[in-house]
Amino acid sequence: MNEIEKKFQSIGVVPVIKLNNPERDAIPLAKALIAGGVPAAEVTFRAAGAATAIKLMHDNFPEMCVGAGTVLTTAQVDEAMAAGAEFIVTPGMDPEIVAYCQKVGIAIFPGCSTPTDYHTAYKFGLEVVKFFPAEQSGGIAKIKAMSAPFPMFKVMPTGGINLKNLADYIKNPVIAACGGSYMVTADLIDNGKWDEITELCKKSVEIVKEARNG
Ligand code: 3PG
Repeated sequence: MNEIEKKFQSIGVVPVIKLNNPERDAIPLAKALIAGGVPAAEVTFRAAGAATAIKLMHDNFPEMCVGAGTVLTTAQVDEAMAAGAEFIVTPGMDPEIVAYCQKVGIAIFPGCSTPTDYHTAYKFGLEVVKFFPAEQSGGIAKIKAMSAPFPMFKVMPTGGINLKNLADYIKNPVIAACGGSYMVTADLIDNGKWDEITELCKKSVEIVKEARNG
């Protein structure tokens, strides 16, 4: 595992963030995540100001592991890296983007949900893949079934994960970390509910600890 993968594994959850107003929200949001014990952010390119948000978080909080999500083009990889992103997440398995990330030297987590996706990831020598959309694709049962032919992967499921089902994923050793937007919803961010975000992060960290120790 590379350093980013180790960090994800130790934190256990990775917030998937869409920021419509990065100048206003990126810094208080990063503070709220750090206070909750979750110094990580996958800032998605679903909102126009993603690169600005990545730069603000990266420059102001060196302890944070900040990367870009919903990356669909190699141009966005460049944009994310210029802003300081330490990793790239794509919703699907795009060999062109994986090859490009490996060429320019940034960690890449492609979205995989089929044996064909895993096989492609295997050929690239990846060790950790995103499993997306997790709940809708069969959840932990499918992840376990995929681990039979592909035991070499650790998996980061995202999609439909929340405080209720987090433990079910985390207690399986194949899971590196879970991604989710439940602790950074539009309602929480747009209304500046930073304390609630911190609380949701703290609860998540507790669940991760319990699930791994139990
Ligand atoms: C992602 O891009 O990883 C997902 O959209 C996050 O899924 P969630 O909103 O169901 O947590």
